[in-house]
Amino acid sequence: MIPDFFISFDTEKLPFEEVDFLIVGGGIAGITAALQLKNFRTVVLYKNGLSGTSTYNAQGGIAVAMAPWDSPEKHKKDTLITGCGLSSPESVDILVNEGIERIKEIISSGLAFDRDGNRYHFTREGGHSCRRILHIDGDSTGKAVANFLYKKALAEKNIKIFHSHFLIDLINKDNRIEFALVYDEKKKRVFVIRAKAFILATGGAGNIFQETTNPSVITGDGIATAYRCGAELIDLEFYQFHPTTFYQAGAPRFLISESVRGEGGILRNSKGERFMFNYHPMGELAPRDIVTRAIVDQMKATGSNCVYLDLKEIKDDLKKRFPSIYNFCMNYGIDIEKEYIPVRPSAHYFMGGIKTDINGRTSIENFFACGEAACTGVHGANRLASNSLLEGLVFGTRTGISAMEEIGRKFIKSRYRYAFPQKADILIDKEDLKRSIRSLMWRNVGIEREEITLKNAEGKITEWMKYAFLKEFPDTTGFETLNMLILALLITKASSIRKESRGAHFRKDYPEQDDKNWRKHIVIKKDGVEYKEV
Ligand code: SIN
Repeated sequence: MIPDFFISFDTEKLPFEEVDFLIVGGGIAGITAALQLKNFRTVVLYKNGLSGTSTYNAQGGIAVAMAPWDSPEKHKKDTLITGCGLSSPESVDILVNEGIERIKEIISSGLAFDRDGNRYHFTREGGHSCRRILHIDGDSTGKAVANFLYKKALAEKNIKIFHSHFLIDLINKDNRIEFALVYDEKKKRVFVIRAKAFILATGGAGNIFQETTNPSVITGDGIATAYRCGAELIDLEFYQFHPTTFYQAGAPRFLISESVRGEGGILRNSKGERFMFNYHPMGELAPRDIVTRAIVDQMKATGSNCVYLDLKEIKDDLKKRFPSIYNFCMNYGIDIEKEYIPVRPSAHYFMGGIKTDINGRTSIENFFACGEAACTGVHGANRLASNSLLEGLVFGTRTGISAMEEIGRKFIKSRYRYAFPQKADILIDKEDLKRSIRSLMWRNVGIEREEITLKNAEGKITEWMKYAFLKEFPDTTGFETLNMLILALLITKASSIRKESRGAHFRKDYPEQDDKNWRKHIVIKKDGVEYKEV
């Protein structure tokens, strides 16, 4: 029922560009891959500018075992424990060891992390057994890293950056991608990009849930497009909910970084009681899934729609250590030096995605993925805080290097035509459909799920698909809506298949982890479902 393509097209009638490499998405992973490919004609597409990437909005920092008290082995152990038995030890090994090399390189090329005197300042976050997280300008790490890498890419003459461009479709012929159909939102035109290799680094899909920390353009497009062109997706049931997002009516769901708890922030329920040690010996610094569910439990027990972060124990000057959070809260009338911050969980990070090997290769020949859109096996069922920027650097580099092997390929210039099968002359309010997807996913496939809510969600999404796919939407909002429907269905299906609770996937009807039957991955592709051992 899911269409192969979203629009009618005839490649002979469309304008086209020929490049060596097409990279879709320019957060840390996409730009890092592009910098590896700087000697070739490389195009990077941004859907909505640098500030629309999740990298730009990341606060806490980059986890790396560079402190004198730390080691890659400890970092590996924490990552594997948090991943709840589903991370690939090989991928994690690469992450923690090559991560140190990548960070040393970026420092020597000019990126300055915050210091405490003449040593780097390492902060702490949930699930880490020691202080391990480098940061920049207090809580503005993502912005600083994104700007730094973006400037480097801009300075390269072979790298072309196109803003406000949307990947509509990828055309797969004999398990090879021949070209991409791209929409230029400013000129309102569709064109073809032929490349020798294609890299998707489009981020996660937070906006398929009502509450999310993600920028509004993060709607899972790359992952849904990969599925439609035949790639394998994996671990789709694992969506991480960040425990602490600012919660005031009318205010955006702004992230309140976990490093706030790392520096001594305390969670209190609406009665003012500290509660985290009732749930885990690490208290406020327990892994994210545990803190998230503890908050939900407390909200239910106290009949409140949020809990609170109390920052009074933090020794640092809050204005200096957390300038973005300080200013944001002040704008909504909360002085964090004196008052508690109202917080609740929201969708934050997709552990699942396009299945890749350790070099970013997918199940399709010249097709690669990196960053949050990819599943390299690092995060398993639950990501360790601040491992994602590190993953972007490490696997973005590896992906760029392995994509380079495709440089000798020839372009195939066959003609393709596709006529959209049925055009229904019906009115579809796309924004209403998006809102409905988001609230259904939040209610039925959110922090806690069970068979009845999952079946109900699957039924609803399938009904909506019946008429949404009858309509040809020639615009970004339309393409996004269809991608959201597809991914919502796949996440719901995977969540329904996994009949246990593990990491971020919590089933009320199967509350225990079941290692005997479920220490394996669910792989979903167009022609069905498979299982893969860890
Ligand atoms: C945070 O600052 O809490 C986010 C860090 C992350 O998601 O890794």
